[in-house]
Amino acid sequence: MLVLAGKSGSGKTTLLNVLGLLSRTDAGTVVVGGQDATKWNDARRRRFWRDHVAFVFQDYGLIDESSVEYNVTVGRRGLFGLRQPDRERADQVLSHVLLSGRGKEQTARLSGGEKQRVGLARAMFRGADVVLADEPTASLDRRNRELVINFLIEEARRGATVVVATHDEDLMAAGDDLILLGGEPTPSQRDSHLSV
Ligand SMILES: Nc1ncnc2c1ncn2[C@@H]1O[C@H](COP(=O)(O)OP(=O)(O)OP(=O)(O)O)[C@@H](O)[C@H]1O
Ligand SMILES: [Mg+2]
Repeated sequence: MLVLAGKSGSGKTTLLNVLGLLSRTDAGTVVVGGQDATKWNDARRRRFWRDHVAFVFQDYGLIDESSVEYNVTVGRRGLFGLRQPDRERADQVLSHVLLSGRGKEQTARLSGGEKQRVGLARAMFRGADVVLADEPTASLDRRNRELVINFLIEEARRGATVVVATHDEDLMAAGDDLILLGGEPTPSQRDSHLSV
């Protein structure tokens, strides 16, 4: 788990967007699985998002009009809806984030913290190779902060690449590595190649 730290405006969110191929760069390259992803076209980037990445971002990226279950399982639905194993897995991840039995509710009706946990459940459901999280513990109570921190630790432990931007010192302490943005660059940062 790599933690991105640094004062407000130092570029943490920008770097996450670049690593997730949501923003393009003026210079430098992002290497994904040995390939220069900065050259990928839209279809290739969409495949990367669908098959490999989970975003846990502050603005959730949830579809408000849809159900909680839909948001958790988006991209996994066939013509006839969810397959039984996927439905069971959705129930399982929802119970992990303390939202048992809430799958049928409309997402718009949830609180901010509950929505953030739906985003987390979606990331769990996907079992992504890369988890990118932007201040995932901001504005959560202690129990939910622990939930989020433990989730990120678990994801890293099962082998996912986790990159998390945060001001939360507990989350910084949970990381294996830390990059302080806006400070003096280390020799490895001076090389503009970043790999995920
Ligand atoms: N596409 C862009 N082009 C030029 N400047 C940008 C662009 N996107 C963001 N910035 C600027 O880059 C700086 C870094 O912004 P960013 O949101 O990455 O900071 P941050 O470290 O995430 O801050 P915070 O801790 O407040 O979330 C800001 O001053 C922002 O206005
Ligand atoms: Mg930010």
